[in-house]
Amino acid sequence: MQSRLQTSRDIWLPPIAAVGALTLLLCASSALAQQPAGGDAAQQAFNNSCRTCHSVKEGDNRLGPNLNRIVGRKAGSLPNYNYSQSMKEAGFVWDQDKLTRFMLKPDEVVSGNKMQPYGGIPSDEAAKVVAYLRATSGSQ
Ligand code: HEC
Repeated sequence: MQSRLQTSRDIWLPPIAAVGALTLLLCASSALAQQPAGGDAAQQAFNNSCRTCHSVKEGDNRLGPNLNRIVGRKAGSLPNYNYSQSMKEAGFVWDQDKLTRFMLKPDEVVSGNKMQPYGGIPSDEAAKVVAYLRATSGSQ
């Protein structure tokens, strides 16, 4: 009697262990899959703070110029957007560092810019927005 019980437990254990391992694997891989683009939180940060005035679609200028491929783009360089004189003459290429600082204190990066009314955002939000802009810059 004893030994029969034991046998039936031995038969059931491996499938249960396999399902457990599979579940772990699935969780781990979906968590990893979200990381490269910064995921929903990054897009959400952009939507909250920038999307009223900016789109990331090519050619889609709103109150602000479109931010399609902004990482690596020259400041004030879209031909069909009416920039302030200071933005046109900024004379640098946007990189992650410049973008982050511009979100925190626009006037310290391009003094006299007309990105208004813009109240600024906390630096952790700025980091998410940069992640989002990088992701869209690389994939389009
Ligand atoms: C109230 C509207 C408004 C909001 C909100 C806003 N912007 Fe702007 N943004 C503008 C305007 C207007 C300009 C043009 C500034 C100029 O010509 O001096 C601009 C310019 C820019 C530029 C320069 C683009 C280029 O082609 O050189 C960047 C980069 C930028 N904004 C990023 C952001 C980001 C990131 C956010 C969100 C954190 C944001 N902006 C929020 C209105 C806005």
